[in-house]
Amino acid sequence: MKIRLFAMILSSSFFLIACNDDVKELEVIVPVPAPELEIKRDVNLREFSRGQKLYQKNCAVCHGKNGEGNPDWRKVDEDGKFPAPPLNGTGHTWHHSTKVLVDTIKNGTAKIGGNMPAWKDKLSNQEINDILTWVKALWPDEIYATWYNRFHQEK
Ligand code: HEC
Repeated sequence: MKIRLFAMILSSSFFLIACNDDVKELEVIVPVPAPELEIKRDVNLREFSRGQKLYQKNCAVCHGKNGEGNPDWRKVDEDGKFPAPPLNGTGHTWHHSTKVLVDTIKNGTAKIGGNMPAWKDKLSNQEINDILTWVKALWPDEIYATWYNRFHQEK
């Protein structure tokens, strides 16, 4: 219990940073060492391998083969839009719940002035879920644990 409380205090330090997908974020989430959170990572291997193929086919062109993102993802392009950020845990993907990530993938960000395409007519819910299983498996333990603890322990 004490450890959980400590993790919560750590993860709620507030600073102002810009987050380029849905809204400006008012928070930096500090990763907590995984063992302190005692999470178990059980990856569904079927979802993982389907997700890997779907990711390579549809997403890697912009987000990189290993989810590393565009090297200049923090700077806006000439078109005033951000290049694709990393999804591998080095960016801010883990600052969002699964629901927000699914919504971003389904709807894209054109409506809010971004360059992320909408996938709702191209990928099923299951396929989006499979891709997110693969993406989350890229996250280091500390990142995954912090995300897991924060978002109500949804998978
Ligand atoms: C044409 C390039 C392109 C493709 C293809 C693409 N994306 Fe993106 N994606 C982007 C850009 C650009 C952003 C940042 C959006 C913004 O700044 O508005 C983004 C943002 C995201 C985010 C939010 C990231 C975060 O850290 O909050 C997720 C999740 C995401 N993409 C997943 C995917 C998935 C999954 C696929 C494949 C099904 C995919 N993207 C395909 C360009 C792309």
